Amino acid sequence: MSLSRGTRCIPPPKIVPSILSADFRRLGEEVEEAEEAGADMLHFDIMDGRFVPNISFGPMVIKALRSVSSLPFIAHLMVEKPENIIDHVIDAGGDFIVFHIEACAYPFRLISSIKERGINVGVALNPATPLSYIKYFADYVDMVLLMTVEPGFGGQEFIPEMMKKIRRLRDFMIRTMLRKDIAVDGGVNFENTSSIIRAGANVLIAGTSIFGQNSIGESIRRLKRIASEVYREICETSPDGQL
Ligand code: DX5
Ligand code: ZN
Repeated sequence: MSLSRGTRCIPPPKIVPSILSADFRRLGEEVEEAEEAGADMLHFDIMDGRFVPNISFGPMVIKALRSVSSLPFIAHLMVEKPENIIDHVIDAGGDFIVFHIEACAYPFRLISSIKERGINVGVALNPATPLSYIKYFADYVDMVLLMTVEPGFGGQEFIPEMMKKIRRLRDFMIRTMLRKDIAVDGGVNFENTSSIIRAGANVLIAGTSIFGQNSIGESIRRLKRIASEVYREICETSPDGQL
């Protein structure tokens, strides 16, 4: 496992559609539209009906879309015992695995087994989970994903208190010289994107505000425009990229 440290503390923004809100009757076409519009990655919410009170889909959807898209696929595992499913997700074509710390007693072991397969790894925290849970292994992951709604469903409202949590996490990373992705998942929309980036997140995962709109392409371009304007402003006012 390698430590990634750097001086620029805020990596560039990425807009990541979550297919949970897509129209599954025409999933392939919607994914193609998202890729053409400049989506940076594609987000797959795998739910087991135990860790969260909902069941979504499994690795076979990742496999089916692998031939449609060349975007990096990020699998968000909202499951108990994530160690049981990682090989299936990787074999299906997942490039990035995010597990929940609330579902994992041995994060160092899980991170190693994902990294051994040459796959990026992230850790997710539910809204009420303290940041201290990841303090001792933040060095070893590529991304920290903050849930900004209770996990399990698309279309919920962003929990306002989470803005503080994003800021605290970025402060922690700046203090410890870690340059990791901070992802925000849940309730991301055109109105709060700018504040989310200002608070220090750089990966914005969005379902409803992309797939629930008239034009998937226009929604992605609009989110990207907002995110990159704020990012440019941050970089100009602070050459270190620090907030
Ligand atoms: C929620 C999922 C999210 C969801 C976000 O449990 O993890 O990825 O798709 O959907 P919106 O953007 O609609 O809140
Ligand atoms: Zn998700």
